[in-house]
Amino acid sequence: MWLFSRKGPSGFSASSTAEDVTQEIDATGLTAIVTGATSGIGIETARVLALRGVHVVMGFRNMEAGKEIKETILRNNSTAKIDMMELDLSSMESVRKFTSQFNSRSLPLNILINNAGIMATPFKLSKDNIELQFATNHIGHFLLTNLLLETMKQTAIKQKKEGRIVNVASRRHKLSYSEGIRFDKINDESGYNSLSAYGQSKLANVLHANELARYL
Ligand SMILES: NC(=O)c1ccc[n+]([C@@H]2O[C@H](COP(=O)([O-])OP(=O)(O)OC[C@H]3O[C@@H](n4cnc5c(N)ncnc54)[C@H](OP(=O)(O)O)[C@@H]3O)[C@@H](O)[C@H]2O)c1
Repeated sequence: MWLFSRKGPSGFSASSTAEDVTQEIDATGLTAIVTGATSGIGIETARVLALRGVHVVMGFRNMEAGKEIKETILRNNSTAKIDMMELDLSSMESVRKFTSQFNSRSLPLNILINNAGIMATPFKLSKDNIELQFATNHIGHFLLTNLLLETMKQTAIKQKKEGRIVNVASRRHKLSYSEGIRFDKINDESGYNSLSAYGQSKLANVLHANELARYL
């Protein structure tokens, strides 16, 4: 139990809620994109960002489910500024369409939360012939980030505020294949292990975040 209540350097613990950690923050004027907001961590992130005044754009592959989430958030917070746009992270075509539509709206972008994910799925290739967990969890978010980076940089310059890119990883990044990322075998069914492949995609999320931090 202590693991949940032990506070880290931020002053928060594993049992702190999204509302706890954003208490008294007025984030009016900021814009965020949250992926995977039909369920779990994504819904709560979108809900609480909106509660703090952020304009939240939720990327959904299932627009029907998305509509329900949007209505639920609005029912409890009628002033929430939330939009939904179609986004299937397992398809590069869909990611390109999403970013081109977003960028054409001339909105600012302060925060990008790369949250959507699938876990331990049976072997399958994406539309682009990439192993599905790697395609969804890493490649889709990698492309999304690259295609939004210029908008984020321009927003940061214009508003004189640093942006934030959050890759939602997992402690399972430590449990990838023994060689780390199997660069030459990512799309091979032979030797596929659904949990190691999940770990591999989460390790890629961590490496991506480290490199962004170094680069930016
Ligand atoms: N829950 C945990 O204990 C835990 C622990 C460590 C890390 N994480 C990480 O936290 C993140 C969120 O996890 P969660 O437990 O909240 O997951 P979840 O409840 O299963 O929700 C996953 C979200 O990702 C979306 N998604 C899946 N594939 C997608 C695609 N191709 N395109 C667009 N959206 C897609 C789902 O949308 P649909 O409704 O369309 O399926 C859903 O909104 C994941 O990255 C996960 O790896 C979770």
